Amino acid sequence: MAVKGFDKFQFGCRLNEVLFASEPIRSIEHLFGRHRELDGIEKALFASGRHIFIHGDRGVGKSSLAATAANQYQSPDADYIDIGCAPDTTLKNIVANIAYKSIDASRLRKTKISSSVSLELRHLKAALASETTLNNLHEEIGTLTDAVEVLREAAALHSTQPVAVLDEFDRIADSNERAAFADLLKHMGDKKVPLKLIFTGVGKTLEELIGAHQSAIRQLEGIELSKLSWDARWDIVYTAVEAVGLTIDKEIAIRIAAICDGYPYYAHFITEKMLWCAFDDAKPVTEIERDHFLAGLSVAIDRISAQLKKPYEEATKRRGEEYEEVLWATADSEYLDRYAKAMFTSYEYVMRQRRNGSPLTYEIFCSRIRKLREEGYGAILVSDPDHPGLYTYREKMLRGYVRMQAEAHGIELAGEKIDQSLKQTMRVPSSLTRGYYVSKPPPGIHWERERRKFDDADDE
Ligand SMILES: Nc1ncnc2c1ncn2[C@@H]1O[C@H](COP(=O)(O)OP(=O)(O)OP(=O)(O)O)[C@@H](O)[C@H]1O
Ligand SMILES: [Mg+2]
Repeated sequence: MAVKGFDKFQFGCRLNEVLFASEPIRSIEHLFGRHRELDGIEKALFASGRHIFIHGDRGVGKSSLAATAANQYQSPDADYIDIGCAPDTTLKNIVANIAYKSIDASRLRKTKISSSVSLELRHLKAALASETTLNNLHEEIGTLTDAVEVLREAAALHSTQPVAVLDEFDRIADSNERAAFADLLKHMGDKKVPLKLIFTGVGKTLEELIGAHQSAIRQLEGIELSKLSWDARWDIVYTAVEAVGLTIDKEIAIRIAAICDGYPYYAHFITEKMLWCAFDDAKPVTEIERDHFLAGLSVAIDRISAQLKKPYEEATKRRGEEYEEVLWATADSEYLDRYAKAMFTSYEYVMRQRRNGSPLTYEIFCSRIRKLREEGYGAILVSDPDHPGLYTYREKMLRGYVRMQAEAHGIELAGEKIDQSLKQTMRVPSSLTRGYYVSKPPPGIHWERERRKFDDADDE
């Protein structure tokens, strides 16, 4: 055993307490970099009749924020209600499900329902008294008014301060079904139903998710979630490394933070694999070294979810290194949206480090970039209809995987800028100065534009 004080079982269990590559975070001590958003949700929920909609790119941490916020708001007499949406989910399904889970919670508590609550139960009394099915509950919900009544009764049965998370709301295929929630929330407000709803969904705006008209309703507060800050990414790495009694070279922590592109999943997954490589080392380990990182990165690339790898493999299979090099160039920037011309300068940077490569011309490079929009090439990029020549990633999270691949091939890509408006300070490893703002790259990270300035100076 290379890590003192742990056998394999203990090591695995310890990692599982601090790294969550395969599940959302549920408690505040593991949720890094989201205090501003949590505080916002907490304040919004004080307002009667107000509900929350957390939206943003796939994988940024919506479910984690929703679960943590729900755990904080939910009174301790029950667990919050957790509902996942699917393409065929309807408003009726969701209301029936909330009722079903509330009845369950009330049975689990085993405290007798007070007579005042019991008197109020017009829809759920029978269901509470005997075994019930979701179908029975469905039948109770004919109209929107019924739905609101059922929710009022469910809230009374569930707990003193109930909350329900409606996760992946964007998956509901029928836009009318999604839009109907706006009316539901209004009615819930009018009837003072004390149940709080926290929605999550992939989308830039609320309009995309519930429709232009409905998104303006006063009952819903939207929280747009951006990528994880640099300091939160470091927190993931340092917390895990410290949990198994090790230290880590700051350069490596910076590389993990840079590769993961603000998507916490990658930081969890790479750190997990890297720590196992340290555990498997033949010699005793007290500090994580570059070799552990590189070995961990390679395992992570190999084992990462097939869905994440697929577009990359589609673009590069049987096409040799040429497409890989073009792909790495697309992910080398502080900006997500990029012109082909800017990507070409990244390509030149990549190719300067490839000893065997003979670079493509600008024209051929551009034709490769255009190909990357096609299905047969993983449909990795999309072009902006309003700005010819401007490209972005179709699935933003894929950029992180492309960055992992580049790093594993010895190419350090530029770090990305996070939302300027956040103005968050960056807590950098203690041996470095504190107080970096997002307008400056953290130490050890270069931004593509600044690098170009250096390159130009070299050329002169
Ligand atoms: N603030 C955070 N700090 C640390 N880890 C986080 C944070 N937010 C999310 N994670 C981790 O990142 C991964 C993705 O998080 P989560 O599932 O919440 O994202 P999501 O936006 O709901 O993704 P999807 O769009 O696929 O539903 C999970 O492994 C989770 O544990
Ligand atoms: Mg989710």
